[in-house]
Amino acid sequence: MNILAIESSCDETAAAVVSDGRIVRSSVVASQVEEHRLYGGVVPEIASRRHAEAITPVTRQALREADCSLSDIGAIAVTHAPGLIGALLVGVNFAKGLSLSTGIPLVPTHHLRSHIASNYISGQELKPPFLCLVVSGGHSHIVMVKDYTEMKIIGKTRDDAAGEAFDKAARAMGMPYPGGIELDKVAESGDPGAFKLPRPIVHDAPYDFSFSGLKTAVINLLHNSAQKGETLRKEDVCASYRYAVVDCLVTNFIKAADDLNVDRLVIAGGVSANSLLRKTLSDECRRRGWEFYMPDKKWCGDNAAMVGSQGYYEYLSGNTADTDLNAYATMSIE
Ligand code: KG4
Ligand code: ZN
Repeated sequence: MNILAIESSCDETAAAVVSDGRIVRSSVVASQVEEHRLYGGVVPEIASRRHAEAITPVTRQALREADCSLSDIGAIAVTHAPGLIGALLVGVNFAKGLSLSTGIPLVPTHHLRSHIASNYISGQELKPPFLCLVVSGGHSHIVMVKDYTEMKIIGKTRDDAAGEAFDKAARAMGMPYPGGIELDKVAESGDPGAFKLPRPIVHDAPYDFSFSGLKTAVINLLHNSAQKGETLRKEDVCASYRYAVVDCLVTNFIKAADDLNVDRLVIAGGVSANSLLRKTLSDECRRRGWEFYMPDKKWCGDNAAMVGSQGYYEYLSGNTADTDLNAYATMSIE
């Protein structure tokens, strides 16, 4: 069964055609990042306007590249939550219009569930249950994926998301938005032991994260050295900071897996592209004899192929919507 998938939750307008939840027949992403970079972050008003312009050509292109017409499509999956409300509404209204005019069923899909599903594309044999670390620009969760559409949150961030923590520190070092990617690259040639940074712990919640203290610590380190007229080696600051963030993520994730007796671990979301996170978890899982899955780098960021994958499983569980479907800025993954 072919799913036409639409994604517009943040600053990427994307459409894809996916067969049976696993085979990507086309995936088109129109990124607005260059425009938002001028402002140092996503400007919601601009994002909505760009989605409105891009959504029709991007969808047409996805159908064309898949060599499909609408009559070959069994369901239309659309991201309806969470995200920027004005941005989400563009995709939701477009998908509703298409569903209404063609009679093709409409499937609302949760953005973070879709990030998890990017692993069904990269790891064709992967099936739930597994424990997933979902780390994006807006969320950091440890999720028990009991089944394709049944999830339980085991831990989450109390303040900044991991991607946000990377982006804010990168910005303080003068890197363009979204700085997480560049910080990761610069860190490759630095010494992770050069600066001691804290490992914030959330008391009585061993699987929860807190990144704001860590982010403040690195910003203070930069300010203090600037006041003294010293220049710190950027590579070393990036490497020490990346090591600290990844250490927090990995420690809690491994502890949760140990405590829950899970031996199949998965990562997802934009930050799952981080080289140190990928390497550390691969090594830790191999050492313990656990299975480990991560999405190919091209599926880590926002795209619609992952929406087509999750949308297929949502459809199979009967999660379809009517034309009264709305968009929501926040919604639990559960
Ligand atoms: O999942 P995503 O594309 O969008 C959201 O749903 O939020 O995640 C974007 C986030 C940004 O904060 C970006 O800096 C971060 O993922 N990111 C990275 C890397 N690549 C993307 N963070 C660290 N290392 C990377 N290699
Ligand atoms: Zn995302």
